[in-house]
Amino acid sequence: MILLRSPSDIEAMRRAGDLVARAFALLQPHVRAGVRLDELDRIVAELLRSEGAGAPYKGYRPSPSVPPFPGTVCASVNEQVVHGIPGRRKLAEGDIVGIDIGATLGGWVGDACYTYPVGDVSLRARKLLDVTKESLEAGIAEVAPGKRLGDVGAAIQEVAESAGYGVVKELGGHGVGRKLHEDPHVDHFGRRGHGMRLREGMTFTLEPMVNEGTPEIKLLRDGWTVVTGDRKLSAQFEHTIAVTKDGCEILTPWHLRMDEAADPTAPIA
Ligand code: MF3
Ligand code: CO
Repeated sequence: MILLRSPSDIEAMRRAGDLVARAFALLQPHVRAGVRLDELDRIVAELLRSEGAGAPYKGYRPSPSVPPFPGTVCASVNEQVVHGIPGRRKLAEGDIVGIDIGATLGGWVGDACYTYPVGDVSLRARKLLDVTKESLEAGIAEVAPGKRLGDVGAAIQEVAESAGYGVVKELGGHGVGRKLHEDPHVDHFGRRGHGMRLREGMTFTLEPMVNEGTPEIKLLRDGWTVVTGDRKLSAQFEHTIAVTKDGCEILTPWHLRMDEAADPTAPIA
């Protein structure tokens, strides 16, 4: 069932989403060589607590066979695609780390992801970050009433694949609102003119996972961490968006909250 949100629902989601965006900006100076992933997790946990917000990932359990997710954020390093556990691992110069942040504020959820470069990264990594972010932007540009999910997926897939990268097919975006995961499921690939038609008031995420090599993924034995099949790099960027009268609104505007130094599309000096 797909729920349509009223302007006041969307106003409430904007507040949850803006808190998520602020969390990315707060983390930015801390994402450096030597920091432990659990330190990054704690910074976000404390922000959410101080704002009276909940942490929708913490304890999340998609099925009884999966252990509860232990973090407030997901932290996925290098070949890790998504759902990395923020443990005692330290970041190293040249890593890339996808941080996924969810917040529940006033009963509404914001969900977003940003992949940070750690210090100076290889040109190879930088290009993957650029293209992945561009694929998210291409998907967002397709979102408007009357467009279809296949238009959105195709736009994302075209950007990633024309750069020679692989789009992860097994995981996708999702409706989001009072719950973290709602209908519909949103593929990051597809055929233009196919799929569900978009309507004003729909709220969902786009969160392309783009692999440097094979699009195949594997699940590690911790039950959570997803890695690339060939252990090459993977990147992810995610926004929560709302379909508006004539397009869409980004509800998790990390691109407005963070400075250009951390922006993978900033010109290379
Ligand atoms: N943005 C991710 C998703 O939608 C975050 C989920 S983390 C989890 O799947 F721990 F809640 F699974
Ligand atoms: Co999500």
